[in-house]
Formats: sequence, structure tokens, C-alpha cells
Amino acid sequence: MDLMSKGDLAQSVELAAEVLTKHLAGVPRLAVTLGSGWDELVDESRVESAVDFKDIPGFPIPTVEGHRGRVLKVITESGHILVQDGRIHCYEGLSSLEVSFPVFAYARCGVKALVMLSAAGGLNPLYIPGDLMIVRDHIFLFGDNPLEGLKLDGYPSVHVNLSGIYKTEWQEALKSALPSGVRCEHGVYAYVKGPTYETDAEAAFLRMAGADAVGMSSIPEAMCAAFLGLEVAMMCCISNTLLPSRALGLSHEEVLKVTRNRAQSIRGYLDSLAAQACALL
Ligand code: HPA
Repeated sequence: MDLMSKGDLAQSVELAAEVLTKHLAGVPRLAVTLGSGWDELVDESRVESAVDFKDIPGFPIPTVEGHRGRVLKVITESGHILVQDGRIHCYEGLSSLEVSFPVFAYARCGVKALVMLSAAGGLNPLYIPGDLMIVRDHIFLFGDNPLEGLKLDGYPSVHVNLSGIYKTEWQEALKSALPSGVRCEHGVYAYVKGPTYETDAEAAFLRMAGADAVGMSSIPEAMCAAFLGLEVAMMCCISNTLLPSRALGLSHEEVLKVTRNRAQSIRGYLDSLAAQACALL
């Protein structure tokens, strides 16, 4: 699907929103997207309804191991949340706008906040695998901007002010929802397109530029969420470290394993996150 050349983004968003609203019987205000390894947070007994990406017009189909491609309505102790189990990356051959399409659909359905969970490589030498990092800012210099060339009636200006995009109160909410004793820092996430991991020189360069972690996801969606007026927050599991020395045998399997272990150790996180988010929405 090439949304831009067809020029039918607004129409596709309407169709996707219709399907989501019908299948999920009402869409919650908080959406949480689960990247590599984070699917461990889903308690299937709490899933009230589910729709596969392949059944939602315009939704891209994930091709990467560990990304199922389902949108779920999950009941928590504080009400319903929407959970996107699996995500798409630009390195699967799609544009930034195409990978962000679900965010447009969620916004159209009335979602007000987007929390993204992902894996990332640690650049801050104090980080160790399994640490969590709440994103306080990002660097997006190497991808295509999802908003480039977007001219649509009824949408706001594409010149979005991204200063302060990750609001402190949302960062605190993500942190407060964690059990005590889990190592968690606030840091800067550098976006790279992937799919290759960084060379030593690239990792050193990103660290010098001020990044604490590097990853291949979520930032196009964060920018679209800001464009659409949604609150946005993001937390990564540091699945491997790149500095001061590269983890031997870095692989997607290792990234999944470390992130799954961390997610298993904070199993009730969606409940506590929903409770924290209630106070902000
Ligand atoms: N680099 C980029 N993306 C990643 C990494 C990494 O080292 N680990 C997990 N996602």
C-alpha cells in the first residue's frame, strides 16, 4: 500500500476506524503498543476482543518474529485499554507514514494517549541488559519523516513543535507503574532505520550526539501521535549494550529473550499503567 501516491489517507483512516470500533465494541482512550518481547505482558484471560491487522484496512502486516499483529481490547482493574500486540518497522520495507497508519486510526477512534514499549541497544555505559529506559527525548535524523508531503483537509499543520513531546507527568506515570526495585532511567532514544545493528563507529557517534539508547522503532508513530494531538510516552528495555563494548553474539533472538524476561518480571504492568494513566486522561 502506498498511502501517499493514492492520496487516500483520510479515507483509509475512516475505514480502519470503522472496523476497529465495530470489532472492539468501543475504543478505549489509552493505547499501548508492544514491540519485540513485550507481548509477555498480555494476559489472554483479560482480552475481551481482538482483531488481526490483516482484517483492518490499511494496517500493514508484521513480518518480524515476535510481532503478532493484533489489536486487543484488554480489561484492567482501571477500565479498558487498547493494546497493539506487535508493530511494523520501516526496515520491513514500508515508509514512516505507512508504519504509523495505526496511530491515525486510533486517533480517529478517540484514543487520547499512546504509550509505546520497545527494545533498544544501550549506549549509556551505565546501562546493563534488562534495564528499562523511559524516553525523555529522541533524535530522529536518519529516517523519512512521516509527515513529509502530507497535505490533508481537516488535519493540523505538519510543522509540529516536538520540543517537550514526552511530557514529564507521563514519564512519571510510566515509572510509578513499575514495581519497586526495577532498574529504570530516563534517557534519549536515537532512531535508526535498521535492520542492521550499528557499527562501533556509529554507536560512538550516537553516544557523542547525546543518545542513551538506539532503536529501530516507534519514533515515526510518536511524531504522528504528536501531530494528531495525542499524549505520547515511551519505555524501552535495554536488550543489549553497544558501549563501552559490543555484546558478543548480538541478534534478534537475544533482543527478544532479554526483553521477554524483563516483561515477565513486571507482568501486572498494564494494570498499573492503566491506573496511572486514568489520573492523566
Ligand atoms: N540497535 C538498534 N536497535 C536495537 C538494538 C540495537 O543494538 N537492540 C534492540 N534494538
